[in-house]
Amino acid sequence: MDGYKRLLSYAPEKKRELVLAIFFTGLSAIAQVFSYFYIWKFLEALLASNNLQEAMQYAVVVIVLLITYIFLYFIGVALSHILGFRVETNLRKKSALNVVDGSFHFFDNHSSGEVNKIINENASNTHSIIAHMIPDITSAIIAPILLIIVATNIDITFGVLLFLALIFAFICLKGMMSDSSFMEAYLKVLERLNGETVEYVRGMQVVKIFGASVYTFKSFYEAIKEYSNLTYQHAINCKHPYVSFQTILNLYISFTIPYGIYTLTRGSEPLEIAAKVIFFAIIGGVIFTSMTKIMYVGSDMFMAKEAVDKMENLFEEMEEKKISHSTYEDLQNTNIEFKDVTFSYENAPVIENLSFKLEGGKSYALIGGSGSGKSTIAKLIGGFYKVDSGQVLIGDKLLESYSEEFLNNKIAMVFQNAQLFDLTVFENVKLARPEASDQEVMQALKDASCRDIIDKLPQGVHTMLGTEGVSLSGGETQRIAIARAILKDADIVILDEASAAADADNEYKIQQAFAKLMEGKTVIMIAHRLTSIRNVDEILVMSQGQIIERGDHETLMAADSKYKEFQEMYAKANEWRVKSD
Ligand SMILES: Nc1ncnc2c1ncn2[C@@H]1O[C@H](COP(=O)(O)OP(=O)(O)O)[C@@H](O)[C@H]1O
Ligand SMILES: [Mg+2]
Repeated sequence: MDGYKRLLSYAPEKKRELVLAIFFTGLSAIAQVFSYFYIWKFLEALLASNNLQEAMQYAVVVIVLLITYIFLYFIGVALSHILGFRVETNLRKKSALNVVDGSFHFFDNHSSGEVNKIINENASNTHSIIAHMIPDITSAIIAPILLIIVATNIDITFGVLLFLALIFAFICLKGMMSDSSFMEAYLKVLERLNGETVEYVRGMQVVKIFGASVYTFKSFYEAIKEYSNLTYQHAINCKHPYVSFQTILNLYISFTIPYGIYTLTRGSEPLEIAAKVIFFAIIGGVIFTSMTKIMYVGSDMFMAKEAVDKMENLFEEMEEKKISHSTYEDLQNTNIEFKDVTFSYENAPVIENLSFKLEGGKSYALIGGSGSGKSTIAKLIGGFYKVDSGQVLIGDKLLESYSEEFLNNKIAMVFQNAQLFDLTVFENVKLARPEASDQEVMQALKDASCRDIIDKLPQGVHTMLGTEGVSLSGGETQRIAIARAILKDADIVILDEASAAADADNEYKIQQAFAKLMEGKTVIMIAHRLTSIRNVDEILVMSQGQIIERGDHETLMAADSKYKEFQEMYAKANEWRVKSD
């Protein structure tokens, strides 16, 4: 019940629908019981009192009541669907907001496909659980109770017999109701099976080429076995209660006949007994089927709990390790400083007790071997991650003291694999500053040397990009992304291997675009082409999360430095490349 309540708490605005859904399904159950009562009246009039006209009247009442029953039930189910869909919608909305707000840490550990799957599967489960559980519970409780009362009034012995049969049937049902440990195991193995199936299908080419069989995919095979064992075991466990349930139902119906005969010998009216036997046989079937609905309530409850648990865990994880920003919105200067910063993605720190200061208005290059921590520093300045200890200061104030949006507007980043959206070129650039004028957008594109790209596109800047539109090369994409950064006009510019994806032709244009982007800004440039960093004010050399050297090109080259080593290595590699070309 806890999971169910928590699910409903996502649609507090639809509390009225909840109450009304229970009310209408309750009413419908009452109408249903009344219709059966009039079936009895009909049988009695037809058989016992042989009054055809009265029987006809009762038959009409029965029809009217059954229509009313269906009508009320329909309203109740419609209301519970409205409630269910609202819960689903709200959960999806909340998910979308959380995803937008999710920490980088979260997205490092979860692929977008995985997140999408968790949200989709669980959210869509919620509506059907809510939509069906309300009418099922309401009618499975109200109808049997009222029918027993009606039945006992018609004939006390038949009624008591029915009541006893119901108690036994209920005990059997309880035996069949899946306990939560089974459900847990079942959902787990189902999830595993789904995952393994996807892997298998993904690997189909390999399967075909190498003639591998399902046995080669050991874990897929094991998942199938596990699933089949579990469901088989469950079916076996249900065997006894299910057979008993069916037996009781049939025994009850056949018992009404000997009992009827017995009362005949005691001088009862035969036709009256016939009417009773028919009536009790009918309602016996009705009650038993409405009771079987209870069987699903247990698993529905469990599914409801699973769905909220999974989604709430996801929401929590998205929030984890996020920086909690304050509201300050004024940048005094663009100095950047790390004070004794330690940071780890997982367990081992990538950066340990790192301190350095960069002066506002200057340009810096960050170099070092792959994995030395360059991108990590860029991301920490961008406020993507929370540091484990120490302080990151921007404009001599703690990074956290600025509002997230403000900080975001003050720092522009261009990464190696820039992402463009499925929008037009124009819209992609304008995203950086929605209030920018059309002229400013066009100027940014021009400054980023994007002219040749636009001239080539069928609808110029208004050409759609992406899956439905035109696709650009890596270098072209990068230039559009730089135009976006130029339009943003942020005070701090960070370029992380931003020209790595470019070919020689693009490289030159990208360098031009960079020059424009960097004008008058505080720049941190991470470059793998060492030739492009000679003109920066200062070069910082990183190794294993530490800054081991810093200085301008001339100073570093004059000493016996790591930087010099890098330069020599780079020159040699270039020589190689030229020779092999
Ligand atoms: N998202 C991440 N999750 C876990 N470890 C990471 C992540 N990003 C980087 N690392 C690790 O942190 C270290 C520094 O990485 P990075 O800053 O990207 O280096 P660089 O940019 O200098 O090549 C590397 O050992 C890398 O494997
Ligand atoms: Mg990197």
